[in-house]
Amino acid sequence: MPTPRTASIAESLTHLEHGGCVAIPTETVYGLAARIDQPEGIAAIFRWKARPMFDPLIVHVATMEDARAVTREWPALAEALAKEFWPGPLTMVLPKHAKVLDAITSGLDTVGVRMPNHPVALELLRKAGAPLAAPSANRFGRTSPTTAQHVRDEFPEATANKKILVLDGGASDVGVESTVVSIQKNEITLLRPGGVTKDALATFLKSKPEFNSVRIVTGTESEKKQSPGHVLHHYQPNKPLVVSWRKPLRDLDRSEFLGLGAGEHADQPQPTIGELDLGLDPTQAARRLYSGLRDLDQNEAIQLIFIYRAPSAHAGLWTAIDDRLRRAAHRQLGQAPNPAQD
Ligand code: TXA
Ligand code: MG
Repeated sequence: MPTPRTASIAESLTHLEHGGCVAIPTETVYGLAARIDQPEGIAAIFRWKARPMFDPLIVHVATMEDARAVTREWPALAEALAKEFWPGPLTMVLPKHAKVLDAITSGLDTVGVRMPNHPVALELLRKAGAPLAAPSANRFGRTSPTTAQHVRDEFPEATANKKILVLDGGASDVGVESTVVSIQKNEITLLRPGGVTKDALATFLKSKPEFNSVRIVTGTESEKKQSPGHVLHHYQPNKPLVVSWRKPLRDLDRSEFLGLGAGEHADQPQPTIGELDLGLDPTQAARRLYSGLRDLDQNEAIQLIFIYRAPSAHAGLWTAIDDRLRRAAHRQLGQAPNPAQD
């Protein structure tokens, strides 16, 4: 099969101007984007993804000025965090400006804003004339895409007939979604762990005397304020997924996952298992997680996916990885070292 051609920036701009959706590369995962001033495009995002209307979209910007323009309040803390972490995997939830459509924020009074760190996305955003709202470019509840081909696999018809254009910017560098934080006067509430770690946020606050007293709210306290879209079952492959924080597959008794994949009874054929060992380096693990999951999901010889996450290391980027693993797993063996996000 010939390699599908990537859309050009010019084609993408025209498509967006006419209320179309374009899949864009970012450093975290690919997004399915529409202009924030095109209600048709915004509605199309929800339709393609079969995304419930209660789950708000992130607004992507190329400049600080654009970020300020979509918010009603832009506190000094937001400015400082943006200067430190943008462009990059940090989404800040702030009071929204009236011009941001309710369909984008699911009727909330706040908007999530981020400046992605990807040259193709930034070029498109600079030229688009309006910020772009974009969730991850996967069907709701499924594994996020980290390559252009993943997006085509996710929406085969819409991408083949160019209802959705795909801008190919290579594999996403980070591999898991952005950190989502809501900003209050003296508090940062961690709504979703991601590419910017809690430690990085804490170190930054400590380095700035004016923000020394800012508290980072995590764990059960932040869970009460969870993001509407950060539901329990998410990022799921089509095949059953077992995640082990305890032992690799070779050291386990397979009866622990009887009934998953096949093999309800001992005399039935056992499922063929595909294993992904995430290794010990969290940067590599995050980068490999979604594409590894997709490869095993697409492999017809495999009926069950097994991910081994060695329990030795924790915190840092592992927090985001463990969060995704917990939500994607059909069965968990053992526990992530830091289940409460901190
Ligand atoms: O890395 C990312 O963030 C990627 C790339 C494409 O930028 N986007 C992404 O979007 O992961 P999505 O829609 O899959 O996840 C966005 C999360 C959802 O859990 C949503 O509930 C939350 O951000 N969110 C967006 N706006 C919010 C708001 N106003 N208040 C609370 N949570 C919000
Ligand atoms: Mg998503």
